[in-house]
Amino acid sequence: MHEDLEKVLFTQEQILQRIKEVADEISRDYEGRELMLVAVLKGAVFFLTHLAQALKVPARLDFLGIASFSPGRALPGVVRISKDLDQDIQNMDVLVVEDIVDTGLTLRYLLNVLSGRQPQSLCVCTFLDKATRRLVDIPVRYRCFEIPDRFVVGFGLDYNQRYRTLPCVGILKSQVYAR
Ligand code: IMP
Repeated sequence: MHEDLEKVLFTQEQILQRIKEVADEISRDYEGRELMLVAVLKGAVFFLTHLAQALKVPARLDFLGIASFSPGRALPGVVRISKDLDQDIQNMDVLVVEDIVDTGLTLRYLLNVLSGRQPQSLCVCTFLDKATRRLVDIPVRYRCFEIPDRFVVGFGLDYNQRYRTLPCVGILKSQVYAR
């Protein structure tokens, strides 16, 4: 275990197993259709690649970058698109792939923007869900894991751009913020 972690919540083996289960569920639901996977940079990239390879339906990929207006995320949900999609999503079956849904404010903004582009369908698949922290009601169709209200890193999730490459998901030690 990495020395900055207080506890490992999910090992790499547990994560890959769960992603496969969710990919099977998505493949059943979208049978006969082609998916447009829209991943939110950068955290969702690790989840996206594993999910996409486990799908049994064809899928295109695209990426959205978002930037927070408030440094340190003091005002959650106040975001703007810093990198837009390269492809048109009109009449496509779009699945937004997120690393974590916390208050839901970021996703509410993204779903508003994307629904205005008239996709055929628009659903959300998140790797982690801090459901108890939700401030706005967001329709999360697929989730790998629900987690407690603790700050987690690894498998794409960062603290100040660090720890993304850890193969597991763990709770970050509080001493790390104090440094
Ligand atoms: P929301 O708008 O509050 O749902 O914020 C979602 C975003 O907050 C995620 O995309 C992450 O960038 C960040 N975030 C929330 N909780 C955590 C965490 O525990 N670890 C790392 N990033 C987090």
